[in-house]
Amino acid sequence: MPQMLARNLGRHINATVTILGWLYNKRSSGPIAFLEIRDGSGWTPAVVNKEAVTAEVWRSVEAATQESSVSVTGKVAQHPKREGVYELQVTDFQILQLAHDYPITKKEHGPEFLMDHRHLWLRSRQQWAILRLRDAVTTAVNEYLHQQNFIRLDTPIFTPNACEGTTTLFPVEYFDLGTAYLAQSGQLYLEAAIASVGRCYDFGPVFRAEKSKTKRHLTEFWMMDAEAAFVEHDENLKIQEGLVRHIIRYCLEHCQEELAIRERNLDNLRQADAPFTRYTYKQAIKKLNELGSDIKYGEDLGNDDEGRLTKNSAVPVFIEKWPKEIKPFYMKRDPNNPDVVFNADLIATEGGGEIVGGSQREERVDVLIERMKSEGLNQADYEWYLDTRRFGSVPHSGFGLGLERVVRWIAGAEHIRECIPFPRTIGRLRP
Ligand code: 4AD
Repeated sequence: MPQMLARNLGRHINATVTILGWLYNKRSSGPIAFLEIRDGSGWTPAVVNKEAVTAEVWRSVEAATQESSVSVTGKVAQHPKREGVYELQVTDFQILQLAHDYPITKKEHGPEFLMDHRHLWLRSRQQWAILRLRDAVTTAVNEYLHQQNFIRLDTPIFTPNACEGTTTLFPVEYFDLGTAYLAQSGQLYLEAAIASVGRCYDFGPVFRAEKSKTKRHLTEFWMMDAEAAFVEHDENLKIQEGLVRHIIRYCLEHCQEELAIRERNLDNLRQADAPFTRYTYKQAIKKLNELGSDIKYGEDLGNDDEGRLTKNSAVPVFIEKWPKEIKPFYMKRDPNNPDVVFNADLIATEGGGEIVGGSQREERVDVLIERMKSEGLNQADYEWYLDTRRFGSVPHSGFGLGLERVVRWIAGAEHIRECIPFPRTIGRLRP
C-alpha cells in the first residue's frame, strides 16, 4: 500500500493507504476500536471494526499500547462528524514495537516530571505544535532577510572575548591558549563581515551564564544577529519591524493547525501586524511612573515594567535611546544627546517581553576605545575589532532576535523552556 502522511490524507479520499507512526490514543466500544495515530506530520483518527478485519489484526489492535510504533492500513474517508478531518477505516494493523508503560499519561504531570522526560514529552500534541512553530519562525527569518539582501554568515562559538559584558560568560579551557568563552552573540564578527558582504546574519546557539530563574531566560538559546553597512538607527528599526511582521504573517499563513492546537488568539496576532509604537527610554520611564511603577531613570526595565508598557498595546513597542551607562560599549551615542545611545529593545504584546535588541554601532575608533576603557575592557583583546573602524569604517547597525522569545510569544507559551527542544537553564542540563 502507498505510504501516506497523516497531514495529506484529505487528498486521497477512498484510497487505501498505509500510515507509519505511533499509537497516540485508543478507546474501544465493543467491537469497534477508535485509534488516534500520529506520524510526525500530524494526527489521524483510525477506526477498526472487528467484523471487517482478521482475528489476528483485531488481537494486535487490542494488544497495542500508548506510543507503540505501528503500521496502519485503511481506506481514507471523511470523518462522519468533524468537517475537514479524515479518518482511516482500518483493514490492517501491525505493531512494530510494543511500548510498555509509557510514563506520560493523560493524568496531570508536574513540570519537573515533564522536563525530566523531555525526550518523550516532545511527542505530545502541544509540544509538537511549538516545535513546528519554531521551525516556521526560523524559515520566516531566513526568507525575510534574504529578501532584504542579507546573506547568512555563521560566527564562531568559541571566542576570546566578551560581546555583551563580562558577567555572563561561560569559560572553557582551550588547549594551550588559555580560556575561551562561549559566544554571547556573534555581533562583533558580523560587524567585521559586513565590510565584505554588506549585509549578513548568523543564526545559532549563544550562551549566557545568567543566574536568572525566569520564564524568559535560558543559558543556551538561539539568536539571529543581523548586521548591515550604511544602515542607521531609523532604518535599523524599520528592518526589525519588517522582520517581526513577516514572522507573524508567515506563521498565520503556514501554521493554522499549530496555532489552533495552541488555542492562540489569532486576532491579537493579526493586529500586531501593524506599525509598531516607539517610545524613547525617557518617555517610557515617565509613562511607567504614571502607571504606578517606581522605576527610576537609569534603571533597566524588569518583566513587570515591560508588561505594563505593552498591556494595552495591540502592536509591539520599541523603546529607543537608552542611557549609555546601562548599554554595551559598541552602541553609538546620539550626537544631539551624548548621554543616550542609538539603540532599541522591542517588547512584544501579550506579555511576550523583549524579543529583539539592537543598535546603531559606534563607528569612530577613538570614541569606541574610550567606551571600552570606561567599561574596563582590555583593548588588546579587541584590536581585531578596532581594525574594522581603522580600515574603511562606515555607519552601520544591527540587532539580535531571540528565537525562543519569539516562539514563546507566537505560540502563546507560558515558559521559554517549552520553546527549545532540549532546554538548558540554570537548574537543568538533562536530558
Ligand atoms: O539584547 P541582547 O543581549 O543583544 C545582543 O546580544 C546583541 N549583541 C544583538 C545584536 O545587536 N546583534 O540579546 C538579543 C535578544 C534579546 O532581545 C532576547 O530576545 C534574547 O536575545 N535573549 C535571550 N533569550 C533567552 N534567554 C536569555 N537569557 C536571553 N538573553 C537575551
